[in-house]
Amino acid sequence: MKMARSAVLTIAATMAIGAAMPLAADKDHREGHHKEHHRGKRPTLNQQLIHDLMEGEMTLKGDHAAVDELILKRHIPISYDYIATLMRTPNAFGEGVACIVCHSSSDPAKSYRGLDLSTCNGIKVGATEAPARKLFEPGQEPKKTILGRRLRNNRMPFGVNFNVPTDGPASQAVRDWIASGAPNDDHFRTKVLPLFSNGNAFAPKWQACTDCHMANAEPPSFHELNLKTFEGIMLGADSVAKGVDGATKIVIPGKPEDSPLYQHLVEDRMPPGISPTADRDHPNTRILLRWIEQGANCK
Ligand code: HEC
Ligand code: HEC
Repeated sequence: MKMARSAVLTIAATMAIGAAMPLAADKDHREGHHKEHHRGKRPTLNQQLIHDLMEGEMTLKGDHAAVDELILKRHIPISYDYIATLMRTPNAFGEGVACIVCHSSSDPAKSYRGLDLSTCNGIKVGATEAPARKLFEPGQEPKKTILGRRLRNNRMPFGVNFNVPTDGPASQAVRDWIASGAPNDDHFRTKVLPLFSNGNAFAPKWQACTDCHMANAEPPSFHELNLKTFEGIMLGADSVAKGVDGATKIVIPGKPEDSPLYQHLVEDRMPPGISPTADRDHPNTRILLRWIEQGANCK
């Protein structure tokens, strides 16, 4: 998506006559001028775009730029129509089968988790098989929702196969420890903490968590996460980048389902089999998350 500057200026010059600059339109509005074609009107998307191009406030670089610059930054309302299309389209969020092949009905005998992603109402209702739950609340911070997590987060250990059970003894031990309030006691030190340094604990002959999460600095540690100590675990992720108070807490004592540490052990990324290196911020993922943020309208 590259546009030569001269081409941009030519387009801009041609448009400028008919499409008064947005700032001018604003000014007219403020000052109460009642020129018929300006009255009460905010600048159109196209006027804003040309203004930003003229002012050099916009660069269309790279393959995600059109989505960033023309859609997300300009708060285009995302229609359910597009979401419906994504759910029906193979490879929409990265390589894999379309969502509705496996999630097409609220009958758990026909559709995994009784999740119906083929209708707007079905998306809003969420999973109907126990534990029945919504995938998000409209308007909620979308990356943290079940739907956002399933599209963006890889199950850990990184690259673990879909066919490794999620309810093995190691993930249960982590779950129970968080449920009991996440104390720094003997049980934690002898039975839970060593799991993170054991390459067999969460998946047979895999990599130990601490191979990748061993210090609160990146590099070498992914997301500045240290799973070697109690303090590191409670500090959470990105404590340098975001500050200690802004760090992503991975343990919410008493609440395993809400704790990213447990979520990352049991939630497979969708669609199943997608490469863990596939872009976690695929343009279509970002558009879906924006739809949630905007209130998940069914129109
Ligand atoms: C090949 C079948 C298959 C495809 C395709 C598939 N899923 Fe899934 N999905 C599953 C299975 C199996 C589960 C339950 C096991 C699990 O939790 O990982 C699941 C679980 C989920 C859940 C968890 C619901 C809950 O609260 O328990 C969500 C959300 C989800 N899928 C969304 C999607 C989305 C979005 C897509 C399309 C990108 C998709 N799935 C594609 C098989 C599939
Ligand atoms: C091969 C390297 C690797 C291994 C091994 C690994 N991780 Fe990760 N981890 C990552 C990467 C990369 C991410 C970034 C997010 C993603 O890919 O989903 C991550 C993210 C995380 C996060 C989220 C941090 C945040 O910012 O919210 C948690 C929690 C986590 N890992 C826990 C674990 C646990 C527990 C294990 C062992 C069962 C483990 N990881 C093993 C590479 C690894």
